[in-house]
Amino acid sequence: MSRIPQPAAEQRVQSALVRFRQLYGAGLVRVLRAPARLNILGEHVDYVSYLPTASLPFGSHEHAMLMLWRARDDGQVRGASINAAFAPFAFALQDGAQKGRNWEEWLTAQPPPAAHWSNYVKGACFFAQWQQSNELTRGFDFLVDSTIPPRGGSSSSSALTVLAGAALRHANQIAFDHAALAQASARAEWYCGTRGGALDHTAICLAERGQAVLLDHATGGTALVPLPSEGYRWVTCFSHEADKGNGVMLAYNERAAVARLLIPALLAEQPSLDALPPAITLAELARRQPQAFAECERLFPALVRERRDMPLKLFDRARHHQGEARRVRAAVGLLRATDLMPDATMRRLGALLNATHESLRDLYEVSTSEVESLRNVLLTDPQMYGARLMGGGFGGVVLALTAEENVAALIERVQHDWYAPRGRDGVGEGSIMVSTPGAGLKELQ
Ligand code: GLA
Repeated sequence: MSRIPQPAAEQRVQSALVRFRQLYGAGLVRVLRAPARLNILGEHVDYVSYLPTASLPFGSHEHAMLMLWRARDDGQVRGASINAAFAPFAFALQDGAQKGRNWEEWLTAQPPPAAHWSNYVKGACFFAQWQQSNELTRGFDFLVDSTIPPRGGSSSSSALTVLAGAALRHANQIAFDHAALAQASARAEWYCGTRGGALDHTAICLAERGQAVLLDHATGGTALVPLPSEGYRWVTCFSHEADKGNGVMLAYNERAAVARLLIPALLAEQPSLDALPPAITLAELARRQPQAFAECERLFPALVRERRDMPLKLFDRARHHQGEARRVRAAVGLLRATDLMPDATMRRLGALLNATHESLRDLYEVSTSEVESLRNVLLTDPQMYGARLMGGGFGGVVLALTAEENVAALIERVQHDWYAPRGRDGVGEGSIMVSTPGAGLKELQ
């Protein structure tokens, strides 16, 4: 544990303040904090539209993104990061003015922007600008400092979207509640090209210490579920970057299109999930369900262009969605049960994590060989309760549940058996996080 570099939050804020003032000059600075999002169960279901699904995420108490910010009167937004890999940028709020158009219509009428970290900020700001009928006049300068591995499946991108949305609303004195900010941030992130749901943003906005957030994707409703913060640790190990370039975005959007449009369209022909065909091409969908196809062209133009004749799997994807719905229900039952010893609860939870991993690997096909080998190393630990790929997949993070007293040994093991042979220092490079359930978005005083 002692090798995990975690400067006290206060110390981080102080050194970031110095940098902020170097960049933007003296004056009042405000600080927002958004936690890393960890997801216990309910992966790849936040965009499912034909079946009630839920996820069970929480916010990390130990790992977060800080945004130091100050309002500006000229409608400019200027951003910088402590991490030199993310170059400073600037844009004007008016660059995203969309007079009278529907947000999704505006987005789908143009190609997604080239990948850049500024897109998450632009998405948040342009969405807020659209929501406020282009009346926002104040921009802001900001600096981020994060201990969430970037592009790593712990949702640093959604943390940035949420923080930018919060800073802009504060700067313009627009009152908001966290649930509304979560919904707004989910829609805002479509600016970047993915067609995801509200899992990440809701967890980031609504997390509470010692609790998981049960998020019902059918209604958007949430409830807190007690999650032990003593005695157990959630260890996440970053494998490799899930490159959000075109290939991965297409693969993610394929699954989102299947869940949002293709399965519902075929269920309209015959209502039984068990009778779904294994796969269908978009060309065939165009013949059988022209309306659903037209919607697909609108929301997923790149997919229609590039994968029109490729069979898109339906049956296995639906089995994953159903399995996740069941596993989340089971986990909530376990965590709320009062007659189980905590260790028994955590062991059963671990078994559910393993089952989710197998489903993500075999039915959803979002794992990679590097993720598999990393998870296999974690599973050799005798104190391991369970481990699974977390987040969108195609790389990213493996989430593991273990006892608090085992954390140091686990980190040694994964460093020695997985990172070292790859010439990496998992701890030093910030790829390993140790978390307990903590609070969501908040302003630091
Ligand atoms: C990404 C998306 C989320 C969600 C997860 C998979 O993190 O941003 O909306 O779909 O993948 O559960």
